[in-house]
Amino acid sequence: MAKSEPKRITITAALPYTNGPIHIGHLAGVYVPADIYARYQRLQGKDVAFICGSDEHGVAIPMKAKKEGVSPKEIIDKYHSIIKKSFQDFGISFDNYSRTSAEIHHKTAADFFKKLYSQGDFIEETTEQLFDEEAQQFLADRFVTGTCPKCGYESAYGDQCENCGSSLNATDLINPRSTLTGAIPTLKATKHWFLPLDRYQDFLKTWILEGHKTDWKPNVYGQCKSWIEEGLKPRAVTRDLDWGIPVPVPGAEGKVLYVWFDAPIGYISSTKEWAAREGKDWKPYWKDKDTKLLHFIGKDNIVFHCIIFPSMLKAHGDFVLPENVPANEFLNLEGNKLSTSKNWAVWLHEYLEEFPDMQDVLRYTLTANAPETKDNDFTWKDFQARNNNELVAIFGNFVNRALVLTHKYYDGIVPTPAELNATDLKVLDTLREFPAKLSDSLERYRFREASQELMHLARLGNKYLADEEPWKLIKTDTARTQTVLFVALQIATALGVLSEPLLPFTAKKLKGILNIIPADTETDREQGPHWEDISTRETLLSPGHQINKSELLFRKIEDKEIEAQLRKLEATKQSNQKEAMTPAPQKDTISYDDFAKLDLRVGTIIAAEKVPKTDKLLQLKVDTGLDTRTIVSGIAESFSPEEVIGKQVTVLVNLAPRKLRGVESQGMLLMAEAENGKLIFVGPDEDNSTNGIPIS
Ligand code: MF3
Ligand code: ZN
Repeated sequence: MAKSEPKRITITAALPYTNGPIHIGHLAGVYVPADIYARYQRLQGKDVAFICGSDEHGVAIPMKAKKEGVSPKEIIDKYHSIIKKSFQDFGISFDNYSRTSAEIHHKTAADFFKKLYSQGDFIEETTEQLFDEEAQQFLADRFVTGTCPKCGYESAYGDQCENCGSSLNATDLINPRSTLTGAIPTLKATKHWFLPLDRYQDFLKTWILEGHKTDWKPNVYGQCKSWIEEGLKPRAVTRDLDWGIPVPVPGAEGKVLYVWFDAPIGYISSTKEWAAREGKDWKPYWKDKDTKLLHFIGKDNIVFHCIIFPSMLKAHGDFVLPENVPANEFLNLEGNKLSTSKNWAVWLHEYLEEFPDMQDVLRYTLTANAPETKDNDFTWKDFQARNNNELVAIFGNFVNRALVLTHKYYDGIVPTPAELNATDLKVLDTLREFPAKLSDSLERYRFREASQELMHLARLGNKYLADEEPWKLIKTDTARTQTVLFVALQIATALGVLSEPLLPFTAKKLKGILNIIPADTETDREQGPHWEDISTRETLLSPGHQINKSELLFRKIEDKEIEAQLRKLEATKQSNQKEAMTPAPQKDTISYDDFAKLDLRVGTIIAAEKVPKTDKLLQLKVDTGLDTRTIVSGIAESFSPEEVIGKQVTVLVNLAPRKLRGVESQGMLLMAEAENGKLIFVGPDEDNSTNGIPIS
């Protein structure tokens, strides 16, 4: 049940793995919505702790280290700083960004484990686990892939299927393979500690299925419901690995905590680090019942944040549980799944090189198109359209007109209005409704909706100026001109205040131009009109107030900039395709005698027709010089029957006859495959520069 007035809000955003930089998918799914929410709550005067950090354990890290030929430590240091900087650059306003390699985290996680251990909350058991004989290593998590027993996806990991979101045990996988060596794993006995999730089944049922039926997002609630109803099983929370937090109990040498055991505890460690730095007490942020705890995550993290971590918190005893877990679906890029390994992504650090100072454009586009209820697609054309048609043509255009005219007519001094007419009053009344509308969307994690509400406010201003035409009025009615610009400036001020959560860079710039915050301060509650003032104060920007020099808030994005991005993606696609087309390895050596057995003749195709009900097969009559015989050949996708009649080809004439689709084929044509995948005849009248690959 939603608490009405929490004393404080602890907001966590999924700790990103430090095995690569972050891209627009991360931003859209987790960090932008979390940041909007945190900024919004701060503007409401709430006590907010917005917590994140790097997830530096787990199999992803040593795997990446191996690939780059460096140590895991070098990997985490490198990506921790890249990721941290990207967050700063995009204005993600974490109160603390920690890392799970930090000492405070090792201690917090080890203590957490020891507490559960001493309470008897684990099952200690020796079981058979997947083992790679070649690598002499146990295989868990990302070290092993196989077919998901739930949905049939073929690249599920040992702990989770990224397709259906199911959490798995490695031994559940069908056809498991080591990702280290490709070997088929064997089974080997090893001891581990299991969290018996079945013991929490009833608690989870009451807490989620009964308690959060209406306030959790349907995608989150639905996933939880299906797991709980299916019945929960014990999950190993330790691993045989040399990278991670050592299991802090006797008899656990060479074992570490499972990354999904330690990482969520990272939220607590990061809160401790922050509190220590700020001279605060961390405990109320995690233990006081008047704290609202929220986890912002992507959909592949739901099971860990809704089932496993809450069971851990419950077992520990004195923690609050998340009040909501507003998980998003996935963002795609130009119709394809975002992929770090395939470089199919818009990397944040690259974006800023190409679109410097345009953070808000990306934040806005990702929010307006956020994958809140279903997977969504990012396209560069949509990015351009959102920028040019909304941010530039509506928001920017309105604000710019209001500011420029104020400078032109009144030397940048807010004019004194004459009596407000019905239109003005109506516009100002509408303006006063916006804080509540935005709050309503934001409180319910509907960030897309909020972005559109904000744009409606800009639209209100834009329409008002277009209707009132102060640039014409100035010639006939100076009093009315003053009134219109006064009203327009009130709307511009409201935009400056209300856009802060969504467009923090723009808000800061606009408030600086309006001279309602000192030019170089961070925008916060201490400065200028507040959120609630928009609906309660008669005047937001008083007559006589001097505004600063005007600057454009947004700029148009040209077609050529978008084309350059699309070309870049096309190049990625090409290079991925090339990589995927690596030639098959050479087959085993054959002896000369083997080769000499082949009887190759030059023949002429004298008749050809398609084999009915097939796409690939042509039935040919070939004059081999010895006889005329029937050969069925799989070339129908490359050649029409008419094209091949009269062609000279090389024929293997002593191949054992074989029936294909009911027709006996008495030999085989030799064909070559060109680099573009097209087939070429191997015969005396062909000018082929590729070596022949026989096909049937
Ligand atoms: N590193 C994980 C991922 O990127 C998220 C960890 S969230 C935490 O999917 F709760 F474990 F911290
Ligand atoms: Zn699956």
